[in-house]
Amino acid sequence: MDEKQFRQWQMLLESRTGMSLPESRKTFLQTNLGIRMREIGCGTYQEYFEKVISGTSGIIEWATLVDRLTVQETRFYRDPDACNLVTDYVLTRPRELLLQNSFEAWSVGCSTGEEPYTLAILLSECMSVLGLNKYFGVTGTDISTPALEKAKNGLYSAAKLVTLDDTLKSKYFVQKEDRRYEISPAIKNRVCFSRVNILELGSAPMHGMNLIFCQNVLIYFRRWRRKEILNRLAERLVPGGMLILGQGEIVDWSHPLLERIPSDKALAFIRQPDKN
Ligand SMILES: C[S@@+](CC[C@H](N)C(=O)[O-])C[C@H]1O[C@@H](n2cnc3c(N)ncnc32)[C@H](O)[C@@H]1O
Repeated sequence: MDEKQFRQWQMLLESRTGMSLPESRKTFLQTNLGIRMREIGCGTYQEYFEKVISGTSGIIEWATLVDRLTVQETRFYRDPDACNLVTDYVLTRPRELLLQNSFEAWSVGCSTGEEPYTLAILLSECMSVLGLNKYFGVTGTDISTPALEKAKNGLYSAAKLVTLDDTLKSKYFVQKEDRRYEISPAIKNRVCFSRVNILELGSAPMHGMNLIFCQNVLIYFRRWRRKEILNRLAERLVPGGMLILGQGEIVDWSHPLLERIPSDKALAFIRQPDKN
């Protein structure tokens, strides 16, 4: 792949997904394009590029390709400090607030579902401590349709569950005959998944969120884009709602509606009450 072609792919990926692909990832790009090109019998990078940007078949091909080019690494309870923060936050909410409306959480860039299911498990545990048999919901969104399909299936290998303690594993997972584990129906029913491109948050139907969790997604984006995305996410919180990011994912951003939670373990913000 020559320089001109690499730039063409960089621009396409960044304009459609927001991800900037540094020169150091050129081999990664070439390898993944090569695999896909062999699968569909496409001879050159240029021929494949033309295919991806043309017509309806290009849209379908793009959906497959984007899954191969995005980093989807994820784990249950990936960030224990952020998980503890969620628990503390929910347990210290005024009871009357929790009784008023259902508690809504959103995992932005949810990959194969481990993060939204973790949130649902945390919320389920909190609600049972509080003795509130109350409704809560979690929405997981991602750009990758294949990742979302895996998330919806909610089936995970034993290796995927190593970060969970045995009590949570037996309470929230059902072991299948093929030695995989399925997330329990009680949790699965609380979580819905939808394809949302983070660059198109303006048209995303998620509003009135009590909790927005956006970790390990923004790191692939340019700084100015991270700020734009965060501004959009801030607007989707209810007053008193919390936004949790990955540590160090943004350093120089603030929002008039949000106040940073003083913590050196987690990067989180609370939306201030509306001024009337
Ligand atoms: C490294 S995973 C992070 C998964 C999870 N948030 C976690 O921290 O474990 C990044 C995810 O962001 C998704 N992603 C990348 N660009 C996106 C975009 N423009 N819109 C929505 N999701 C995107 C990828 O498909 C991938 O599933």
